[in-house]
Amino acid sequence: MDNSNNVVVSGMRPTGRLHLGNYFGALKNFVDLQNTHKCFFFVADIHSLTTAYDRTENLAENSRQMLIDWLAAGLDPEKCTIFVQSHVPQVSELNTLLGMITPLGWLLRNPTYKEQLTELFRKKYAGQTDNMAAAEKMSMLSEKELSEMSSFGFLGYPVLMATDILIHKAQYVPVGQDQMAHLEIARDTAARFADIYKSKALIEPEPLLTKIPKVLGLDGRKMSKSYGNTIELGEDVESVRKKIMAMFTDPNKKRATDPGNPDGCSVFAFHKIYNPDYETRAQECRAGALGCVACKKHLFELMEGGLKEFNERRNFYASNDTLLKEILEQGAQAARESAQKTLDEVKAAMNIL
Ligand code: TRP
Repeated sequence: MDNSNNVVVSGMRPTGRLHLGNYFGALKNFVDLQNTHKCFFFVADIHSLTTAYDRTENLAENSRQMLIDWLAAGLDPEKCTIFVQSHVPQVSELNTLLGMITPLGWLLRNPTYKEQLTELFRKKYAGQTDNMAAAEKMSMLSEKELSEMSSFGFLGYPVLMATDILIHKAQYVPVGQDQMAHLEIARDTAARFADIYKSKALIEPEPLLTKIPKVLGLDGRKMSKSYGNTIELGEDVESVRKKIMAMFTDPNKKRATDPGNPDGCSVFAFHKIYNPDYETRAQECRAGALGCVACKKHLFELMEGGLKEFNERRNFYASNDTLLKEILEQGAQAARESAQKTLDEVKAAMNIL
């Protein structure tokens, strides 16, 4: 018998406007999945509070901007459930209950826990310590600083994420490699719940790892907001042109006729995404038959049309607050309904009156 329910759940922490790395790494996949699966996609605003609880000035606006990007990119509220995590109180309720059964050891051993602490530290010292080893950085924190930086909610990040997933009985969770440890905790939580309460209310989700094209930033490192090397998904067309023309290329290719090496060149990494015939460009580059300026111009031409269309859609949603509200209300309602069903089963299994 086929037990598949085809449910997909995934969320993103609201970082504001998304960049091309976010789009090709995750959002594009969401847009494809809505046609084949029953999808729940949400803005993980409570998750943002696990690290930035003292910097919430932009939280609501960041959530709004990310949603606008989602819609402009083609997430369709008629095809999937789009909502904001905090609009579904059932999540917080189940989070409390699952927190009771989660062994502390699972959370302390979670590899991302240590990494995120290091990241917090980096922000606090504004990059001055970037070249220090992680252990050295950690040793610079006093007991007091450590406790200030790490909250109960921060340690409980994986419990909340497990809740997000289990509350809709997700079968698949599209996530990046960096989230695998969290997903494993979600699976273990479902199994532990089944074992303790002899209940099938929570099912073990599977990761949906898709092949993600490598999106390099303007400087050749991974595209990331914290490196300041991004192109925004809805960036002004002229600004994108300037950024592309100023991009780093192979430093050994000084003249247009010098042979170059496309591997590791960020302009070529973009060709691979936007240009179906990128192999030809690579050959020309290697043969010294293609200059970097021409190569960049071509890349911009390939991007321009899509960018313009995206920006039109973005402007439409950004100037239509009533529509945004309606979409979120509709999504929240559907998510609450789905969540309440699971929550009722969980409470029954736990003999909560
Ligand atoms: N932790 C995820 C990230 O940072 C975001 C997230 C929160 C999530 N809850 C989730 C992803 C549930 C998938 C499913 O990318």
